[in-house]
Amino acid sequence: MVLDKNFLWGGATAANQVEGGVLEGGRKLSNIDVLPFGEDRRAVSLGEMEMLEWKDGYYYPAKQAIDMYHQYLEDIKLFAEMGFKVYRMSLSWSRIFPNGDEEEPNEEGLLFYEAIFEELKKHGIEPLVTIAHFDVPIHLIKEYGGWKNRRMIEFYTRYAETVMQRYKGRVKYWLTINEINILLHQPFVGGGIVFKEGDNKEEIKYQAAHHQLIASALATKIAHEIDPDNKVGCMLAGGSHYPYTCRPEDYQEAIRRDREGYFFIDVQARGKYPNYALKKLAREGLNIHMEEQDKAILAESPVDFVTFSYYCSRTVSAHAEDYEQATGNIFPSIKNENLPSTEWGWQIDPLGLRNSLNQLYDRYQKPLFIVENGLGAIDTPDETGYVSDDYRIDYLKRHIEAFKDAVEIDGVELLGYTTWGCIDLVAASTGQMSKRYGFIYVDRDDEGNGSLKRTKKKSFEWYKQVIASNGEMLE
Ligand code: BG6
Repeated sequence: MVLDKNFLWGGATAANQVEGGVLEGGRKLSNIDVLPFGEDRRAVSLGEMEMLEWKDGYYYPAKQAIDMYHQYLEDIKLFAEMGFKVYRMSLSWSRIFPNGDEEEPNEEGLLFYEAIFEELKKHGIEPLVTIAHFDVPIHLIKEYGGWKNRRMIEFYTRYAETVMQRYKGRVKYWLTINEINILLHQPFVGGGIVFKEGDNKEEIKYQAAHHQLIASALATKIAHEIDPDNKVGCMLAGGSHYPYTCRPEDYQEAIRRDREGYFFIDVQARGKYPNYALKKLAREGLNIHMEEQDKAILAESPVDFVTFSYYCSRTVSAHAEDYEQATGNIFPSIKNENLPSTEWGWQIDPLGLRNSLNQLYDRYQKPLFIVENGLGAIDTPDETGYVSDDYRIDYLKRHIEAFKDAVEIDGVELLGYTTWGCIDLVAASTGQMSKRYGFIYVDRDDEGNGSLKRTKKKSFEWYKQVIASNGEMLE
């Protein structure tokens, strides 16, 4: 058997993409709740268009999402039926601290997740909890400007400490901030940042990044103090960059682009700013305020393990303008003719997953965890509601083969694998329901119509067999 008997198989979701119930149980709005469906979504995500409340004339998919807030019992039962060993989920920050800057948490919010952990325990499923998955309470944006403000460190660590204390013994695996490098690409989504005219955007983004990195290190420290059994991970939006040609300048561009993301993980895993980042900040005149104690905070608490999402690789060149671009992803990439694409233009590259695992393991020498991977596709149910998603099975099978090779042939240390959107959910980039990832079909469309009924897809039985055989039976 290639994989360890304790290998953590499962699936992943994020609160804002599944829960709904956004104003229930004392919860208040967060950044992702106000991302509208439609063409303005992009401008809001980038922090170029201010939208800090629901406005007439827009549809907001997070409002009800797939209603997991009310249907989690049924959903967890289905995860258990597939044999999940782990369920990656996130907590909604504004369910626990509705404004974000209160002294005391919202008990009803804490109880909601307590019930979920209880249910998971009943089924022998280990929770893997992301503390902030594209999640900033709106009040913290209106009042403090989101993560560009250093006070966010205090609010975030209070929140982290509260949940770590409360769920001690129930949750052992924590991720501090989802896809932390997204902050550079979608500042409102990643950091609750809305730009004003004349802003030095690059400086603001790196200042916010510094605050997140300090907050993440402090949360790691707190986790270890509360319970030495706690394991804390960082989380990278992964996918390495290929040079389009073997011209040295294309390879150099690939290194530069990889470093945009590695910057965060270098700090979180190694405990200090890498030299290339310090040089960049100085060269570009980005004046980042750092306090006396910051170096020590970072050095003191590196993460225990490194996690990442992987959907596709990217291809770059020093002469990108000469080539056709791939579509549909926030990370710019040249179209790689060697690879097929999904219906959203994301290029399918299972071997790229093995390459990424190797790069990350060589770089950090820490256990890895693939916490997102999957195929966003249009599913068409038959007259009984059943979806024969052989394309999804094929995608996942090839990626599982690739990570098994990374373990067996390359010796990479891999803790587990959680497929993204194990149940259909709202797509983060587009707000669509029609971009489906799940083993479980949810009857809901892009405009919010549908019964929300759950139906197992063909991939459901397939994944069950994959887990039961610990990844040996992939056909
Ligand atoms: C990652 C996020 O970026 O990719 C998820 O952590 C997201 O929240 C996933 O849903 C897939 O992207 P999309 O846009 O297809 O939902």
